[in-house]
Amino acid sequence: MSKREVWLTGITTTGTPHIGNYVGAIRPGVASSRDAGRDNFYFLADLHALVKNEDPEKIAQSTLEIAASWLALGLDTDNTVFYRQSDIPEIPALTWVLSSQTAKGLMNRAHAYKAAVQANEDAGSKDPDKGITMSLFGYPVLMAADIIMFHATHVPVGRDQKQHVEMARDIAQRFNHHYGEILTLPEAVISDNTATLKGLDGRKMSKSYNNTIPLFEPPKRLRKLVMKIKTNSLEPGEPKDPSDSTLFDIYRAFATEEETAAMAQQFADGIAWGQAKQQLFEYIDDHLSAAREEYDRLIADPGHIESVLKAGAERAREVSVPLYERVRDAVGIRSLASSS
Ligand code: TRP
Repeated sequence: MSKREVWLTGITTTGTPHIGNYVGAIRPGVASSRDAGRDNFYFLADLHALVKNEDPEKIAQSTLEIAASWLALGLDTDNTVFYRQSDIPEIPALTWVLSSQTAKGLMNRAHAYKAAVQANEDAGSKDPDKGITMSLFGYPVLMAADIIMFHATHVPVGRDQKQHVEMARDIAQRFNHHYGEILTLPEAVISDNTATLKGLDGRKMSKSYNNTIPLFEPPKRLRKLVMKIKTNSLEPGEPKDPSDSTLFDIYRAFATEEETAAMAQQFADGIAWGQAKQQLFEYIDDHLSAAREEYDRLIADPGHIESVLKAGAERAREVSVPLYERVRDAVGIRSLASSS
């Protein structure tokens, strides 16, 4: 008998979703939320968002925007349990239990922590741990709890998160070794074929580079941003190279294969940059306009989003409460009244 697959992923609630998030995570995530052949858990990782953010307004706003974006783009909340991490009190509780099964040395090897230490050393700081919080250091344990809490078997993440999923697996294994086979061992699913978009300046599109095109800008703003995409100085009439064009990459991430081929032909024929940008703007605008309307409607009704998330949390807790009870019992945190 093959066990049913449980797919789980978290979205950290920082920033406003941009078209890079859309093609890299939201679009494939929404598509797989409809896969009825498995159980899906998607959640807003707002506790993880605290790690590098101390601005409460930004966290709250980002939570609203990310939830509204996924819902507007068609997340299937019947087939997928969609919830907010902080609505599941068993997650931080499990984090603590798992911390007791996590070697500090394992956390020392986490890429994010090592990069922070490296940055301090590069800056000539006397304290290699300068500015590093316990939440940054322990980030992988919280993530392990997110995953283990719902018996996840498959965890779709970006390449940068693969190590965290492997750590979750190590932690679960160590727990099971000590307390018995209770926790499910997860596996990372890295999709190499999802696009990473470049941003306005040609570097990877990222909030930290301030080079993003937010997903649901009004058409005027969207057009303005598309017009800012960096191009070279080739004149109209001169053939242009699609393989070296941020503009082309973005177009391809949205368009069909035939449309992409047609754009490549226009490049070869020497389309003017301004004209190519106008076509890209129109394409994205058209592609997103229905979802944008829904997004605007949702953003104006945060109470509705709250109720969707609360309903998701209720379903999630049908799983988290019993698992956490088993874990408590296994580690010896038990009701004294029921012991015989
Ligand atoms: N750390 C992940 C990221 O930054 C988000 C995340 C938190 C996550 N908990 C998770 C992803 C659990 C997968 C599973 O992208």
